[in-house]
Amino acid sequence: MRKLSPILFATAVFLASAIADIQFDIPEPNYDVSSSAPGYKIDGDVVRTKSGLEFPLSFMGDNEEGRDLYGKTIDDLTVSVDFEAEDRLRVLIADKEGKQIPVPDSPLGLERSKHDRAARKRNYDFKYTENPFGFQVIRKADKSVIFDTTDYPLVFEDQYLEISTAVPKETNLYGVGEVVTNFRRDNKQNVTTLWNRDDATPFYKNIYGAHPYYTELRNGKAHGALLLNAHGMDVFFKEGRITYKIIGGVLEFFFFVPKDAKPNSVMQSYTDLIGKPFMPAHWMLGWHHCRYGFKNISHVNWAVDGYEKAGIPLETIWVDIDYMDRRKDFTFDEVNFPEESMKALSHRMHSNSQRMITMVDPALSTNSSYEVYQRGKEMDVFMKNNDGSEFVGQVWPGYTVFPDWWHPNITEFWGKEIIDWVKLLDLDGLWIDMDEPSSFCLGSCGTGKQDTWPDLYWQLDDDKAEALIAEWQEAIDSYGNSTPGDSRNLLYPKYRIRNGYGDLSFRTASTNSLHYGGIPHYDLHNIYGHAEGEVTRQALLKHKPNERPFLLSRSMFPGSGKKMGHWTGDNHSTWEKLKISIAEIFNQHLFGISYAGADVCGFNDDTNEQLCARWSALGAFYPFARNHNNDVAISQEPFLWESVTEASKKALAIRYSMLPYFYTLYEEAHRVGTGLWRPLIFEYPKDNEYLDNDEQILLGSDILISPVLYENATSVENAQIPPGVWYDWYTYKAVEGKSSVSLDAPLTHIPIHVRGGAIIPLKTSAYLVTETFKSPYSLLIALDHKGRASGRLYIDDGHSIEQEGTSDITFEYHNGVLKARGTFDYADAEKLDTIKIIGCTDDLKTANHKGNKFQVSKDEHGAAVVQGLDIDLTSKFTLTFH
Ligand code: NOJ
Repeated sequence: MRKLSPILFATAVFLASAIADIQFDIPEPNYDVSSSAPGYKIDGDVVRTKSGLEFPLSFMGDNEEGRDLYGKTIDDLTVSVDFEAEDRLRVLIADKEGKQIPVPDSPLGLERSKHDRAARKRNYDFKYTENPFGFQVIRKADKSVIFDTTDYPLVFEDQYLEISTAVPKETNLYGVGEVVTNFRRDNKQNVTTLWNRDDATPFYKNIYGAHPYYTELRNGKAHGALLLNAHGMDVFFKEGRITYKIIGGVLEFFFFVPKDAKPNSVMQSYTDLIGKPFMPAHWMLGWHHCRYGFKNISHVNWAVDGYEKAGIPLETIWVDIDYMDRRKDFTFDEVNFPEESMKALSHRMHSNSQRMITMVDPALSTNSSYEVYQRGKEMDVFMKNNDGSEFVGQVWPGYTVFPDWWHPNITEFWGKEIIDWVKLLDLDGLWIDMDEPSSFCLGSCGTGKQDTWPDLYWQLDDDKAEALIAEWQEAIDSYGNSTPGDSRNLLYPKYRIRNGYGDLSFRTASTNSLHYGGIPHYDLHNIYGHAEGEVTRQALLKHKPNERPFLLSRSMFPGSGKKMGHWTGDNHSTWEKLKISIAEIFNQHLFGISYAGADVCGFNDDTNEQLCARWSALGAFYPFARNHNNDVAISQEPFLWESVTEASKKALAIRYSMLPYFYTLYEEAHRVGTGLWRPLIFEYPKDNEYLDNDEQILLGSDILISPVLYENATSVENAQIPPGVWYDWYTYKAVEGKSSVSLDAPLTHIPIHVRGGAIIPLKTSAYLVTETFKSPYSLLIALDHKGRASGRLYIDDGHSIEQEGTSDITFEYHNGVLKARGTFDYADAEKLDTIKIIGCTDDLKTANHKGNKFQVSKDEHGAAVVQGLDIDLTSKFTLTFH
């Protein structure tokens, strides 16, 4: 038993409204490296294996000294080094006995690729010191040491692992999250804690997901490093060092060293390991609308009507937990959201070629009349306490149990519930939330709790909240710190990571509760949501094997982006959250998640017209674009304000016209691993002036978006224009690159530029994605200084996993000749109707295609335009301008 860590403070402000103000006891960051620890030495032969090297390590301390700093020292370790690929090295330091728990080698964790052979060509060298043991990873090309543990001793204990690498003082680090912070990490006092946690996106603290991955950029050259470990950890980044302090597992590092050392290539290498982002269907690229707090089905229909009347594109309507009977998954509130009305909504959406998604939370009510609970109980699929009883927490439906994604019956149980639900409402996708997992007690809410309606601790006055927390404390402690056969302190490990709620189990499952096979939640916490995603996705695939499933999840881990998308969680209707959403999306891309977005107009607190107008314009370019709001804020449907309506319509018309470009970028992300949204520094890594720019976005390489992010601003100041010539999207006015400019931006306008040298495939925007995709193609050819341009277009049927044929077309323009080459196997491609050329100094008069002559005219901004081409995109072609 230990002293309660959440401390209650009665504050004058909150007394009146009787809300408990809980201050959490978060440890001070400990930046020190255990430099006096004895470390390990190589104690045996260094053996060459088929794929690399293997050798034993032994602890160098004598009996007492330097032992058991925060756990039990493990004396004997094994190091396995695998030269997995030209650009990828794996270094695994594990306990010889194999008792420490790694990330499972399965789709519920990360399936490792098997390597029988060391890569012959390698962009890196691996070096080690023997006594004490340390290692270096060196980029061969320039001999730079990119990871170096040789000057600090390794600490390897059952509940504390510490390893530290030297890095240059002024290095540039991106990644390690999920955390709300600037894109380029501050190297002064920076600690990122990874322990999945439900909290409303505070700056710098641990939140929903865990990605122990970073990309580092030194002198224009990039590499990446993943520490594949799902345990709680603090990652310190302070001038000259990156130090990991982890409370369990093994040290399984992967280093990514692509030959060209480009940041985008590092993303490619990283996603070669963790899996490429999933390929979305066309419709998923449309605009989504959601609200927590729709009062009844008429309220939802009102929102759909409002969009329609205002002419603001709406592709998908989402229904949050409001539809449920007392917040129980797979049930209906029979008064406000009766089953028939939800079916009618689905029917309405589908008959208009629109879509519908609902929320599903993992935690299931323990209510004795709740059939889903009874079925799960029979199949024994819920997490347990260590005496075999069901682990009980609390979420929206009151007391709940938690599906154990590692239980052998889970696929059958969860799969059936999911498929029945999706079939019942004919849903287009699912939204899985609260999957950290979130639970409102301090771990356990007690044993056998059901059929009563517990209070929400944050709504109680301080005395009551204190009494409740003490009750939970008793419940969690009654199961003991450890489990049979495992002497670790699972509740209160001695090394305290900087978890935002203090104790590890606060507001989540108890770390001493168990998963199948007796594995404590302590060891799997950070992959709970990731595993739920896998089981849910498999169910959706079973239901419709050849349709790309739609899943959005709040909690993610390396590899989650292969299965699902992510939104950045409960942000606020503030200017700073609008701005930071850019860095958050850059980060998600870095973590291999291409389908990412933030709640447009903000989730918590009341939005306002100006903020919502600016946010709707930027949000129209989010890879995943959705307006979402909470239950106690004012309504924020875009049609409620004139300026928001206008901003949305203008920006969405551009997004929809660019859908072929977006879709082509998604295909690239899926095949290669690059992001849709790119920080300038990732495209121009040698240009140091872009290192910190997380206020402008490159959509692919060719579209530059410069949003207004500050209240009352009517221009974007110091907007950076990358090298070359760029053209204003609206006026085609050329701006020379390598410059910093001021861009006019009245309230409903978002500045956009297209890169000279790019060819952008477009469609005619319509109200719906399907309609838009049915329209003929056009090409926007933006010429560079040499009069050249090129671009790419990917086409398939827009929804199937297996395709009968796809087209991958490259366009090249030079000297008045446009050539389309590539593969043309998608038979139903719409025709190419229009071509617009901007930045062209020649006075073009005609365009010739297979003997047909077309007149070239000038539009109001001086671009050369040819229309009515009717060119088939099912074979290569050449078009000549004169
Ligand atoms: C928390 C989620 O982050 C939010 O988006 C959702 O609206 C609420 N849960 C209610 O389901």
